[in-house]
Amino acid sequence: MSGSSPGYFVAFEGGEGACKSTQERLLAETLVAAGHDVVRTREPGGTPAAEAMRHVVLSPEFAGLDDRAEALLYAAARGEHVARIVRPALSRGAVVVCDRYLDSSVAYQGYGRGLGPDRIRDLSLWATGGLLPDLSVLLDVDPRQGLARFEQRDRLEAEPLEFHDRVRAGFREVAAANPDRYLVLDAALPVGEIADRIADRILADLRDRA
Ligand code: TYD
Repeated sequence: MSGSSPGYFVAFEGGEGACKSTQERLLAETLVAAGHDVVRTREPGGTPAAEAMRHVVLSPEFAGLDDRAEALLYAAARGEHVARIVRPALSRGAVVVCDRYLDSSVAYQGYGRGLGPDRIRDLSLWATGGLLPDLSVLLDVDPRQGLARFEQRDRLEAEPLEFHDRVRAGFREVAAANPDRYLVLDAALPVGEIADRIADRILADLRDRA
């Protein structure tokens, strides 16, 4: 947990086409309006080196990238991002709103690629010095609906449906095992209703801490 630092760390997770970015933006706007110091960021990425790693893992130019190399690159990008962006922001008391975090590695590389959820989780915990979000919001979407939103697909989106089914099952399994740290919402609900439920939960958490 970021519990030992004064800030609050929320990650948005989910499969392709879950509209995470819309919800992440709406939450950030609500938090800023409520007077919080908010840092919006995303993975993989967030620093020049992590953005370079993002290019390698996502570009169709690198089709056939080895699965373990892929897992290591996501973990490396995460370590860099946490050290340079997330931890400094949490230390000064900011709310960090991050589009994807460690559970994306567990779901995509651990379950999707079949590399094993525990090993992949341990790798990211090592890379980040054990940083977990205070809350992970899982926007659950059937990949049959989610993927229909894309015309051009990056290297991960281009994986077959069975891969995305394993990713979805992985997210749901991890969330079910840790109900206190996850807010699971059906991504098919109206945008405003999802946004309200996320904001209610996080504003209540922040009030409890004040
Ligand atoms: P992005 O364009 O940010 O996708 P989205 O809008 O769906 O968040 O691309 C990130 C892709 O990388 C996405 O397909 C999920 C994948 N991914 C992993 O496989 N492992 C990870 O650890 C992370 C952070 C992302």
